[in-house]
Amino acid sequence: MSIPKNRPPQATSTLRSRPAGGAGKRAHYFDPVPEVESKRRTLRLRTGDVAAELQADRGVFGSRAIDLGTLTLLKEAPLPPAEGELLDLGSGYGPIAIALARRSPAARVWAVDVNERALELTRANAATARTPNVVACLPDEVPAHLRFAAIYSNPPVRVGKAALHDLLQRWLPRLAPGAQAYLVVQRNLGADSLATWLEAQGYRVQRLKSKKGYRVLSVGGAE
Ligand SMILES: C[S@@+](CC[C@H](N)C(=O)[O-])C[C@H]1O[C@@H](n2cnc3c(N)ncnc32)[C@H](O)[C@@H]1O
Repeated sequence: MSIPKNRPPQATSTLRSRPAGGAGKRAHYFDPVPEVESKRRTLRLRTGDVAAELQADRGVFGSRAIDLGTLTLLKEAPLPPAEGELLDLGSGYGPIAIALARRSPAARVWAVDVNERALELTRANAATARTPNVVACLPDEVPAHLRFAAIYSNPPVRVGKAALHDLLQRWLPRLAPGAQAYLVVQRNLGADSLATWLEAQGYRVQRLKSKKGYRVLSVGGAE
């Protein structure tokens, strides 16, 4: 897997291309409908037991290479529960959701994103990877009564601290009793301050792994 050494791993977070006609408007990987022209490329996911070819695209996070944080999460976080509802919060083109679905074929994996191009890619990638247990949808389309046996996320830190906190406050309370969330965050993008904030909200946080500038956090339900 080639990860360019000369650019920071989340350099795709703010896209270089500007939307047509949008003078001064910055394009982001979390735009609901990216205006940058589509140009798909095939990326190979290879991590432990999981190998898959995935389509990525401009306007979607990690369009040039599978993100190092994502690979760190898939290598270092515990395997998902065999059954139940799992959540990939901020699925992008679906590398985490598809790995979870392969590892737990009897579970249902909710791949949630606000970027419609990302969701289309996740659906197409899940079909190619033969993981029919992936459901890719917008946040509001997840049935409100569902509780998750685990949450995995490479969260969108570039949305800003307040929006990131809101996002976590929305989804972490939906962990089933005793279930864990696993988050990967770059240390220089605030992994430690996020852990401190989560603890202040009453969550039990373990710093599982710190590798190549990324921290994997395990977050247990609020007391
Ligand atoms: C850092 S990227 C990770 C993408 C993918 N999981 C990966 O590993 O390549 C975070 C993702 O969160 C999505 N996102 C941003 N705001 C969101 C929100 N409010 N709800 C769900 N997803 C969101 C972004 O569109 C982006 O695809």
